[in-house]
Amino acid sequence: MVVALTDGTLHSPATPAGQVDTDIAMTSHALNDATLDRLFRTARTHNELGGEVSDDTLRALYDLLKWGPTSANGSPARFVFVKSPEAKQKLAPALSEGNREKTLNAPVTVVIGHDLDFHDKLPYLFPHVDAKSWFDGPRENRVKDAFRNGSLQGAYLILAARSLGLDTGPMSGFDNAKVDEIFFSGTQVKSNFICNLGHGDDSKLFPRSPRLSFDEAARIE
Ligand SMILES: Cc1cc2nc3c(=O)[nH]c(=O)nc-3n(C[C@H](O)[C@H](O)[C@H](O)COP(=O)(O)O)c2cc1C
Repeated sequence: MVVALTDGTLHSPATPAGQVDTDIAMTSHALNDATLDRLFRTARTHNELGGEVSDDTLRALYDLLKWGPTSANGSPARFVFVKSPEAKQKLAPALSEGNREKTLNAPVTVVIGHDLDFHDKLPYLFPHVDAKSWFDGPRENRVKDAFRNGSLQGAYLILAARSLGLDTGPMSGFDNAKVDEIFFSGTQVKSNFICNLGHGDDSKLFPRSPRLSFDEAARIE
């Protein structure tokens, strides 16, 4: 629970009155503690995922993550939700040994890719200027933007999934070239990472690893 202070900031009850909790120095617009836990603080990466994930949930997931910002609204990420046993079997040979079993057992595995020709859709996605012309030319000049913004959208996917009550297991341990051949053949879409989706069992988690402190990872200039 979070209590509003007179200056508009919020603090948790564990924080002495009048002192803003450095963990949650928030404005009155901030989400509540339970939501922040769900999205960040207690959310974990799961190896064992079960349960059901409906197609409607996958559509709701996309309809949330699509609102995350990308440069020039380019939205380069492309998603393949690998759900059927047949599709899982197609994916299997591309997976690293350590990621295979848990991926085959998860209700859904999403392949997050990015379209190197994302700029073709800019006349629709960013109509007020000729943004397509910024990216016209050799494809290799678009790789950095496609990868950067596609990675952001992959992160939005993880947070959107958590916000819908799903657990996630992102992985980069697979053969990208094989996945591209299996799922993106004949296109300019390249795989970035894959992510299992489902419902995790907290009792099966190993202890959480630490994170860098603010002073180790950041500075204010
Ligand atoms: C892009 C990405 C790639 C990852 N690749 C793998 C992987 O191939 N295999 C694996 O077991 N875990 C993988 N992980 C899981 C991370 O090790 C895990 O998210 C991290 O240790 C944090 O764990 P926590 O969320 O439980 O604190 C990956 C995570 C991300 C975001």
